[in-house]
Amino acid sequence: MQYLLGIDVGTSGVKTLLIDIEGHAVASAVAEYPLYAPKPLWAEQNPEDWWKATVCTIQQVLNQAGVESSDIRGIGISGQMHGSVFLDSNGQVIRPALLWCDQRTQAECDWITDTIGARKVMEYTLNPVLTGFTAGKIIWLRNNEPQNYAKIAKVLLPKDFIRYRLTGQFAGEVSDASGTSLFDVRKRRWSQEMLEGTGIPKEWMVPVYESVEATTKVSEAGSAETGLMVGTPVVGGGGDQAAGAVGNGIVETGVVSVSMGTSGVVFAFSDEPVLDPGMRTHTFCHAVPGKWHTMGVMLSAGGSLRWYRDEICQQEVATAKLLGKDPYELITAEADRAPAGCEGTIFLPYLSGERTPHKDANARGVFFGLTLRSNKPQMARSVLEGVCYGLRDSFEIMKEMGIPMNQCRVSGGGARSTVWRQILADITGIGQSVINIDEGPALGVALMAGVGTGVWDSVEQACRATIAVESTTPSRNDNRAIYDNTYEIYKKLYHSLKADFASVSKIS
Ligand code: XUL
Repeated sequence: MQYLLGIDVGTSGVKTLLIDIEGHAVASAVAEYPLYAPKPLWAEQNPEDWWKATVCTIQQVLNQAGVESSDIRGIGISGQMHGSVFLDSNGQVIRPALLWCDQRTQAECDWITDTIGARKVMEYTLNPVLTGFTAGKIIWLRNNEPQNYAKIAKVLLPKDFIRYRLTGQFAGEVSDASGTSLFDVRKRRWSQEMLEGTGIPKEWMVPVYESVEATTKVSEAGSAETGLMVGTPVVGGGGDQAAGAVGNGIVETGVVSVSMGTSGVVFAFSDEPVLDPGMRTHTFCHAVPGKWHTMGVMLSAGGSLRWYRDEICQQEVATAKLLGKDPYELITAEADRAPAGCEGTIFLPYLSGERTPHKDANARGVFFGLTLRSNKPQMARSVLEGVCYGLRDSFEIMKEMGIPMNQCRVSGGGARSTVWRQILADITGIGQSVINIDEGPALGVALMAGVGTGVWDSVEQACRATIAVESTTPSRNDNRAIYDNTYEIYKKLYHSLKADFASVSKIS
C-alpha cells in the first residue's frame, strides 16, 4: 500500500496525518507550541517551534503507522495564513513571525491603502489591505525595526517556511499567497503594482504554483531530521482555510463550510472571483486549480472558548482532570443548562479585534447584560452563542451576495461539540453537516499530494472518492425568535461601543 502525508502548521500546534491512497486515516500526531503576545493585540510565534513540532509529529506518525518512508508517495503542507517569516541571506530566521491575528499594523495598512489608492488595491488584489495580512507586517518592520528589515532576503508564509526546512527550496502557492495583499488574486501571480507601490522587492517573494503541483522534494537535510525519504515530492499545499475546505469537500458551488478552529470561517467555493461590495469578506484563490473562494473570517471563534476555559474555568479544568475528561466537555455541558439567549447575557467575541464584518483592529471582547442572576452556565453559553452570531454575520453577507448555500459542512475543534453545533444550526437557521473523516487541512493537503502524484486526476475526484456527509444537525424553530432578537442587539452593540474600543486602544 502507498501513503500520503499531510502536515498542517496551525496556531496552537502542528498536526501531521498519514492516509492511505484510498483516503483512510492511518496515523496522526499533534504537537503544540506557545503563542507570544508581548503587547495587547500583538501575536507572535517562533518558526523554529513549528519546525520542531513538524519533525516530532512526522517521526511519531511514521512510528505509529510502522510504514516505510519509501511507501510515502507525496507530501502536502498547509498552515495558518498571512504570517510573516523573515529570513536573512543565510536562510536564518531574523525575528519571531507576526501572525494572522496580530493587530499592530493599522498605520501601515492605512499607508499602503493611501499610497496605492483604495480602488487600485481592490483592482490589484481583490481585497482591502487588512491588519492580519502580510504586507503591513513587512512595512511595520521597515518602520519599527530597520536593523531587522535591512537583513531580509526572503519573506515566507508559515507553511512555506516548513517546506523550506523540509526541502531546502523556496516555493509557495496561490491560496496562501492570496492573503498577503501583494498577490494579484484574479491573475494568480504576484502583483507587480503592489510590490512596486510598497517598495517591497520582488526577490523577497517565492515562486508561486497551483496547490496540487509537485514542485519541491525532501532534501538530504530534511530527510535526516524527519526520517522521510530523500526525493519524496512535496506539492504546493494550501493556506489552512483552502486546505481545510478541500478536506471538507468544498469543491463545488452550493456546498459551503464553517470551520471552528481558533478562528471561525464561513467558506464558499466559486468558479470566478466573487466580490463583496462592502469588502467585508475575502476573495482568494482556492486550492482547486483555476477556482476561487469567498470567506468571512472571525478572529476568535474556538479562540474565545479557549480563553474562557483558560482564564475563567480553573474549576472545570481541575474537575475534568479528576474525571479524565476534556474540560470543553464539561464547559459545553454547563452551557447546555442555560436557556437560549442567556436571559440577555451577550458575549462579543472580539478578543483579537475583528475582520468580518467590522475590519476593526481595536474591537474588544465584551460580556454584556450581566445581572445578579447571571451564572457560569449563562456565561459559557453566551460565549458559544456570541461566536455563532459572529458566524451568522458572514452567512448574512454571503446571502446578500447571492452565494448559493444548499448544504453547509462544519468542521474544526468547535464542531465536535453537539451543543455548539446545535446552537450554530439554530442561530444561523442552516443545518450543519459533519463528514465521515474529520481531519481538516491536513487531510486537504494529503489529498492534494495524491492529485499531484497521480493517485487522483483532480481535487474534485479526490474529494468524491474519499468524503461523504455522515450526519446533519438540523436547524430547529423553537428558539428562533429569541435568537433573532438577540442577534439584532448583538449587532447594535458593536456600533454602540466602536468609539470606546478606539479610546481604550489608546490607553493600553
Ligand atoms: C484566514 C485566517 C485564519 C488563519 C488561522 O484568513 O486568518 O483562518 O489562517 O487559521
